[in-house]
Amino acid sequence: MAQSFPKARVNQLIGEDFGQSLENVGFGIIDGLLGSDWTNGLRQEIKKLYDQGLLVPNKTYYEGRKDENGRFVYGYSVSKPNVHELDLSTIELQKRKELDIPHLNALYEDETIQKSINRAAPDFNITKLDIKIQYNAGEGGCFPMHFDTTTNVSKRRVTGTLYLNPDWIPEHGGQLRVYPFPYDIMDVDPLNDRLVLFSSHETLHRVMPSHAPARYCITLWYYVDQDSPQSLQIPRFSWLRQVEGIGFLLNPNTRKLLSKIVYDNHWRESVRQSFGEQKEEIEKILANHNKEVEHIKKQLSPEILDFLLQCVPLAHGEDFLKLARPIKGE
Ligand SMILES: [Fe+2]
Repeated sequence: MAQSFPKARVNQLIGEDFGQSLENVGFGIIDGLLGSDWTNGLRQEIKKLYDQGLLVPNKTYYEGRKDENGRFVYGYSVSKPNVHELDLSTIELQKRKELDIPHLNALYEDETIQKSINRAAPDFNITKLDIKIQYNAGEGGCFPMHFDTTTNVSKRRVTGTLYLNPDWIPEHGGQLRVYPFPYDIMDVDPLNDRLVLFSSHETLHRVMPSHAPARYCITLWYYVDQDSPQSLQIPRFSWLRQVEGIGFLLNPNTRKLLSKIVYDNHWRESVRQSFGEQKEEIEKILANHNKEVEHIKKQLSPEILDFLLQCVPLAHGEDFLKLARPIKGE
């Protein structure tokens, strides 16, 4: 039996300060979310499912498009060596109970995190959760740069990553790297009991190569009920909006496109690192990426492109760092 879910603690940590972080820089970090009894329980249950062979290789999907019936489909997928996962929503309730994973089941069923996010950042208005557990066996296992989804593909609005790595040291790598364009990159260490929540549409991110014998992570995906094609325009970087001439950098679509140009080298390197020896697939992904980057560049005059590459990424500065700082529990 798992101890009861630490609702009071979660409620307190995912509060007003957290909402300010999520809305203004696009992500928020909480340390000490559940306490060590819970993180030990969750980690042991993930290891048990991995040892039972229930986890499958994680894949990245490319060339998303609508088919003739208007359904969203992908052209192809590529698996990542050493990264194994299991989507708990694919297992029937009865089977989940039989697996004897009380901590994972409680995390899936309890609504405290969801309700706290809605209270702290009401614009998201999330109503449903899916959980994926992940076991990264090291050897450089990592993820390429990506946005989790877009408004016309999925109702997913908030992504959470909960890390369960008490022995993490910098040499282990495996940091979550966020690209809060127009600001500079930021690496978030995958520390034990740390929850990072970010906007699924608008936060560009990746996972750096992991060299730990095992890296444990739980991904939380929060969805809304209704299709809402509009972007939430998060992050807002509210203090930047007053700066003349910079407004265009804050439009969600512009941010998406320009970040691909500005971080072009990061993008390519992340693809090369993520897919091991699958050379043909890597070349295909990079060829498509290059095509996209060239297309975006063609829309810009050389002067604007030059100006852009000179001014961004912006240094973090005080306003940014205050909001990106972890909120600490016990
Ligand atoms: Fe992601």
